[in-house]
Amino acid sequence: MNLPIKAILIGAGRRGVQVYGRYALKNKKKIKFIAVADPIKTRRQKFAKLHGIAPNRCYKSWEAILKGDKLADIAFICTQDQLHTEPCLLALEKGYHVLLEKPMAHTLEDCIKIVKKVEKTGMMLGVSHVLRYTDFFSTIFRIIQKGVLGDIVNITHRENVMWYHYAHSYIRGPWANLEKSSPMILAKCCHDFDLLFYMVGSYPKKISSFGNLLHFKPENAPKGAPHYCLDGCLAKDNCLYYAPRIYIDIKPQIQLMEKSENKLLKMLAKLRKNHVNFLTYISKLIPQFKVLRYYKGFPVSYLYTDQKEDYSDGAKAKILKTSPYGRCVYHCDNNVVDHQVVNIEFKNGVTANLTMHGFSEREGRTLRIDGTKATLIGEFHISGEKIVLYDHFSGKEKLVFKKKLTRESGEHGVGDFELVDAFIESLIYKEKAQPLTNARETVESHLMAFAANESRLKGIVIDMDEFRKRVEQF
Ligand SMILES: NC(=O)c1ccc[n+]([C@@H]2O[C@H](COP(=O)([O-])OP(=O)(O)OC[C@H]3O[C@@H](n4cnc5c(N)ncnc54)[C@H](O)[C@@H]3O)[C@@H](O)[C@H]2O)c1
Repeated sequence: MNLPIKAILIGAGRRGVQVYGRYALKNKKKIKFIAVADPIKTRRQKFAKLHGIAPNRCYKSWEAILKGDKLADIAFICTQDQLHTEPCLLALEKGYHVLLEKPMAHTLEDCIKIVKKVEKTGMMLGVSHVLRYTDFFSTIFRIIQKGVLGDIVNITHRENVMWYHYAHSYIRGPWANLEKSSPMILAKCCHDFDLLFYMVGSYPKKISSFGNLLHFKPENAPKGAPHYCLDGCLAKDNCLYYAPRIYIDIKPQIQLMEKSENKLLKMLAKLRKNHVNFLTYISKLIPQFKVLRYYKGFPVSYLYTDQKEDYSDGAKAKILKTSPYGRCVYHCDNNVVDHQVVNIEFKNGVTANLTMHGFSEREGRTLRIDGTKATLIGEFHISGEKIVLYDHFSGKEKLVFKKKLTRESGEHGVGDFELVDAFIESLIYKEKAQPLTNARETVESHLMAFAANESRLKGIVIDMDEFRKRVEQF
């Protein structure tokens, strides 16, 4: 395959632009976007301008971009969860290799359709399980493979979603409602099941799960809370989720900086929190301070779809009056769980427990792996990452990995770019090989998530062999 590899982007939203688009701009010799599809005109035009895409290669939908002849080698599919299956099936059919955002699809049946299409067409499918590619999890895989832990016996893995992130994505945002999106255990934890499957190195045998929507319901709304925070909420001074607190005062980002070990970030947090007028003044003189004063990152960027990107406090307040992100968290159309636990017994006898919840003080995953020779305890937080090994024989502990919060720290560390690298390398060097895992193995994480969901809803233990047999009938 000739370099740079030609690619098309379907869905020029956050992932499409900020991950894959950014990767292409930094790796011009490897990849070049030559066409884009998105119904939002400003998004496709912005992407086209950045990547030098001709106007006749800007399309309004996935149907339009995939309608004619094949335009490139890879299709990046970055639409929302319920809009993965059809573009993916058609792209594979047309002869594109596909890098598909996770989850593969929002129903089990659609996931299987995709796997079967990959097997039929022989095209390559990469699913965006980016965590595998982070330094943190790569280190853990290496430790396991070297046998440092002995035989793994048990894993306790937690996906601790920080309180504001949960509110943003799973109450006010795109993943709140099952009719519009996917079960939270799939949307948030297909990554975690993928990691467990990979770390344990065995297929799951049995799965059981419990969970529900405990807190974010109208009966828990503070007295006098209107449907929109800015409609005169009487609880505004005490409500953790008061929208201006999150999107204008950026309290969660300040908390994150305060928790960092980086002294400069701590100082900047103080400046943003206690001296905002001074910060406004100096950011006029020194433009670098604008990044802190008029923060544009997650979750604030979600306020803007098609409108002018004015990040002033007044403009944001105006948006919050009608935006879904301005709604009271107790008066939304959310119906996904806010906490769930999953128990897994693998075929090799290893047991694991996954806990997912939306009430964490910090964002990130924590895990503990107990093996016959050693215990590993890992923390994978945005505010910092570390892995400590405790050797049973010597009784000694060793810090084997540590990473501080940096400006580059994101939800997935460097995993996003590593994933694209791995996908591209498998296209260049092993034309027929699958990136890291084949589609069948990739879908296993999704099967686990769907099984957990079924167990939770029906109150039963799922026998995974029976579950797989059922799936094969699709
Ligand atoms: N791999 C990860 O770790 C990770 C992290 C976050 C999100 N995701 C997944 O990535 C996907 C995209 O998430 P996002 O936050 O970028 O969403 P987004 O809403 O920002 O982007 C989706 C884009 O698709 C466009 N779109 C809608 N209909 C379309 C159509 N018919 N044809 C073409 N484009 C269309 C939308 O206009 C939008 O710009 C989701 O499935 C999400 O779950 C994955």
